[in-house]
Amino acid sequence: MSQEYDVVVIGSGPGGYVCAIRSAQLGLKTAIIEKYDTLGGTCLNVGCIPSKAWLDSSEKYHELVNHFKDHGINADKVELDFPKMRSRVEKVVSDTCGGISFLMKKNKIDVFNGVGSFVDTHTVKVSGEKEETLKAKNIVIATGSKPSSIPGINIDKKRVITSTEALKLPELPKSLVVIGGGVIGLEMGSVFMRLGTKVSVVEYADACIPAMDKDLGKNLQKVLKKEGMEFFMGHGVTEVTTDGKSVKVQAKAKKDEKEIQIDADYCLVAVGRKPFTNGLGLENAGIELDERGRVPTDHNLRTKHPHIFAIGDVTKGVMLAHKAEEEGVFVAEVINGEKPHLNYLLVPGVVYTWPEVASVGYTEQELKDQNKAYKVGSFPFKASGRARASNESDGLIKVLADKETDEILGVHMVGPRCADLIAEAVLAMEFRASAEDVARTCHAHPTYTESFKEACLAATENRALHI
Ligand code: FAD
Ligand code: NAI
Repeated sequence: MSQEYDVVVIGSGPGGYVCAIRSAQLGLKTAIIEKYDTLGGTCLNVGCIPSKAWLDSSEKYHELVNHFKDHGINADKVELDFPKMRSRVEKVVSDTCGGISFLMKKNKIDVFNGVGSFVDTHTVKVSGEKEETLKAKNIVIATGSKPSSIPGINIDKKRVITSTEALKLPELPKSLVVIGGGVIGLEMGSVFMRLGTKVSVVEYADACIPAMDKDLGKNLQKVLKKEGMEFFMGHGVTEVTTDGKSVKVQAKAKKDEKEIQIDADYCLVAVGRKPFTNGLGLENAGIELDERGRVPTDHNLRTKHPHIFAIGDVTKGVMLAHKAEEEGVFVAEVINGEKPHLNYLLVPGVVYTWPEVASVGYTEQELKDQNKAYKVGSFPFKASGRARASNESDGLIKVLADKETDEILGVHMVGPRCADLIAEAVLAMEFRASAEDVARTCHAHPTYTESFKEACLAATENRALHI
């Protein structure tokens, strides 16, 4: 017998489960379908949460071994218990996924375990332990993404791995080659480097995290290099081979075609992610993918059928959990007949390395390309009293403001706690603040947040107080 719902969500990642919660809050009868045993999608199971848990544990170890002595604390016999570190990460993941099940129950959302696929534009079949058929007034596709690869590379998931396997390695590698100096490459590369692995990054572009403002990648690379990470920039990987116990990675320099070979225990392929729609039966709903494998949507995230929506990694835009969440809320409210607003320019990007990197709004390059007249104000953390007190003086905050109106157009930062600091910049931009508005807002002393105020002072008539 088929059941009828106002909203059926396919996929329980941050896009899907948030959409289900908001739909239920609005009084819509809601179901969610997940093919894996645990809810939470990539983010909770093999993405944001485990990677941040590894980053925090590895940072504590690294600090203790390398930096506590600078504070006059000598810890001679530091031991790394890798299996225990891994089991802590696993517990964080299982507790967090359990939290989503609780939220589904609390909001009276029906959870179906199995692969969801379209039968027609109003019917979804769930193929799990038992088969169910759901009738839906509205359907939300939130099936996320999977790691991409590059031609000629066979990811065997044992020695040549993606982030999913890197988060669950049975042993600490002595050496690791990372293909791709983007977000995953530098975050997971940092985890292993901090624990003692020799990490070599091969990146095709000339700078790491190339999608972000150029100053950020440059600064971050300098610090990571100082910490021991090896970089081969401007190199394209040509071949990866493995004998089951180690890997050989061959790459060619773009500039002079010179070949290099790096031998290591493991090779992590982190060259981006691709939308995932396998098994979804989109053909039964007459929905075709775009040239990049994404489900095409309009400004209201509707597909060609007004009652079928797509959100998160499976549709256009940046592949970030908070973007997926915002879209989940947006779609639930559109279904409820509301007119919500979503400003993609103000979706912040964060890299959780140390120093952290964070960004919102236009990059300097984008403003140049638009021929926009802008002003720059920047403030280095080494001039911040709080940063000096904590021995955390690497990095800077850069504010880009409209030359005429002083409105903040972009904020780019690399330094201590930037992942949290960026929220103030997002809020300021959401309210269309000028650099002067922030410069005249009292910031507690001594805090890292003062550096944002100082960068805004620098952007308005170059009047930073502490440089
Ligand atoms: P997903 O989280 O991918 O969820 C999709 C779900 O749909 C999955 O559970 C899948 O099993 C299910 N599914 C697919 N097809 C079907 C089907 N036919 N039937 C039933 N279920 C189906 N983003 C951040 O913002 N911050 C971070 O710090 C961050 N760190 C990351 C670290 C790593 C290592 C990785 C890989 C990603 C990270 N991301 C981060 C990206 C983030 O995880 C994704 O952007 C986010 O999970 C996308 O959410 P989603 O809901 O669109 O899809
Ligand atoms: P990415 O797009 O961030 O980086 C991929 C990198 O690989 C790029 O720098 C690219 O130039 C490089 N590259 C591509 N082909 C190459 C080749 N043949 N040889 C050498 N280098 C090559 O993708 P990544 O790191 O895989 O992450 C995927 C997505 O997951 C991110 O875009 C992001 O949306 C999400 N994510 C977000 C995180 C966060 O918010 N902190 C953390 C981790 C992932």
